[in-house]
Amino acid sequence: MMNRALSFFGLGYVGLTSAVCFASRGFKVIGYDADPQKIELINSGKPPFYEPQVEDLLGEALGSGLLSCTHSPAGAVEGSHITFITVGTPSNLDGSINLEQVKSASKQIGQALSGKGDYHLVVVRSTVTPGTTENVVKPIIEGYSGRRCGEGWGLCFNPEFLKEGSAVRDTFNPDRIVIGEFDRTSGDMLEELYRGFYGDEMPKTIRTSPINAELVKYANNAFLAMKISFINMMANLCQKLPEADVEVIAEGIGLDKRIGPLFLKAGAGWGGSCLRKDLEAILDYALKNHVELPLVEATLKVNNAQPYRLVELAKGLIGELDGKRISVLGLAFKPETDDMRDAVSIKIVKRLLEEGARVAVYDPKAMENARRIFGESVEYSGSIEDCLRGSECALIVTEWDEFRKLTSQDYIKLMKIPAVVDGRRIYDAESFSSKLRFAAVGLGEKRYYNPALAVNAIITKGDGILLVRRGIEPFKGLWSLPGGFIEYDETVEDSLIREVKEETGLDIKPIRVLGVYSQPTRSPTKHVVTICYQCSILSGEVKPSNENIEARFFAVENLPEQLAFDHLTIIRDHLKSKR
Ligand code: UDX
Repeated sequence: MMNRALSFFGLGYVGLTSAVCFASRGFKVIGYDADPQKIELINSGKPPFYEPQVEDLLGEALGSGLLSCTHSPAGAVEGSHITFITVGTPSNLDGSINLEQVKSASKQIGQALSGKGDYHLVVVRSTVTPGTTENVVKPIIEGYSGRRCGEGWGLCFNPEFLKEGSAVRDTFNPDRIVIGEFDRTSGDMLEELYRGFYGDEMPKTIRTSPINAELVKYANNAFLAMKISFINMMANLCQKLPEADVEVIAEGIGLDKRIGPLFLKAGAGWGGSCLRKDLEAILDYALKNHVELPLVEATLKVNNAQPYRLVELAKGLIGELDGKRISVLGLAFKPETDDMRDAVSIKIVKRLLEEGARVAVYDPKAMENARRIFGESVEYSGSIEDCLRGSECALIVTEWDEFRKLTSQDYIKLMKIPAVVDGRRIYDAESFSSKLRFAAVGLGEKRYYNPALAVNAIITKGDGILLVRRGIEPFKGLWSLPGGFIEYDETVEDSLIREVKEETGLDIKPIRVLGVYSQPTRSPTKHVVTICYQCSILSGEVKPSNENIEARFFAVENLPEQLAFDHLTIIRDHLKSKR
């Protein structure tokens, strides 16, 4: 059978991606968009956004003559058998859905249908709240066409589940197709279109009512967002528990087939144009129907706070941020896109600026969009190297591949003080934290044993020499003591000194315990503690002094890997060099 000709109203991610994919399989496609500039851009071969493969497919589609974009909505309907509505459905200020573009497209399609002879199918693909296809789209088209739905034209709601960054791949390999149909003829026509498009690889198809199809889309996005918020919630718990790691928790629960491994990546939170908008819209819709959706509310709540965790981790690593140069690696809401809509990077950068940091930003694709958002408030780096150079802390906000490739040595080489907050869990925590100051979302520390951290804490506080001992038995009970600076008894002190003496053979004696550097936790009653000792090392030459702090600090900054946790060796070497 001859391929149906298609038209798309709205040439954003969904519309343009679908259009070029259909054209690539021999369908004639006409695009229309209310923005004339977008039409010109697309007709010249340039997608108005970055999305892998779209530019190539667009070039082919224009070259083959199968795709054209028109300024005439009537012409688009006239020249096609099936029209997809793929316009945006943004949020109003109160979170409710804004249907203006859907209404306007419906009106244009209705007007065009009034004079059209052959049967025409209208497919709503924009995400719309339950009942919209029936109560908004259908009456508008009926009103402007003068024809009832089913009389010469049909209507379906057909949700899309495309992810930005993999929209083309997702279009060719969907998990399922959901068709919400007003009558059998409409549903048959749409299913037949997809059979023509997918051939032998036709995905499982659900045929149902429009309202069910509309609900599937919202339930889908709400569930995905809930999964991520769930694992982020667990990450925040893990972060406060020594030796805990959310990655292992995610793997552990993900292997349960009832849960599944996808969308369990803890990080800085979810962003993007869809999830928040859709969750807020369904929440508003449900409330108007006198139903509460507490899990959706909690999902949003967890996500609103999540980006700030990275800033807290940065402060845990380097102390106050005021006046310090901080590098933000990654601005797009996810890799492989230049999209910054609702990106967590926006919240993070704003908070860093509020804290007085000097912020340098870098993203492989999103710099242009970033300029529109941050204006003159940040430094836009031309490369990763420029961004890191002279910086005191780097935050991984988006997990681009080129950031994954960086080694701890790259950071050490470029930064003034190498400190990394891995907000997307792209680095090997064990290896990184042995070489530089390192913190990661959902990683309970180990890092409190890192001498570099403790040195930093003490330097920040402006105190004296410290000695941090890793894994000493009496210290283990001290991890979660009531808030504030803890009291400790002499047995702890004695045990530390004994061990140091045994291991180094040096005669050392503590002269003063400086106190306990305490990391406030989310729980008001718990503090995670790092014990900081001031010691006098009675070898004759070395006395506690500012000079020694400098020396030790320097030694830790340039720590070779094998010495990472071995402060005793540092002391020994330091003493040798003084002799
Ligand atoms: C989402 C839905 O996945 C898609 O089905 C729907 O059609 C549109 O909304 P999208 O927003 O493009 O797609 O991207 P998605 O891959 O879902 O990622 C959303 C956000 O969640 C990103 O910021 C991403 O970094 C974050 N995310 C995703 C996580 O933090 N952890 C995960 O495990 C997965």
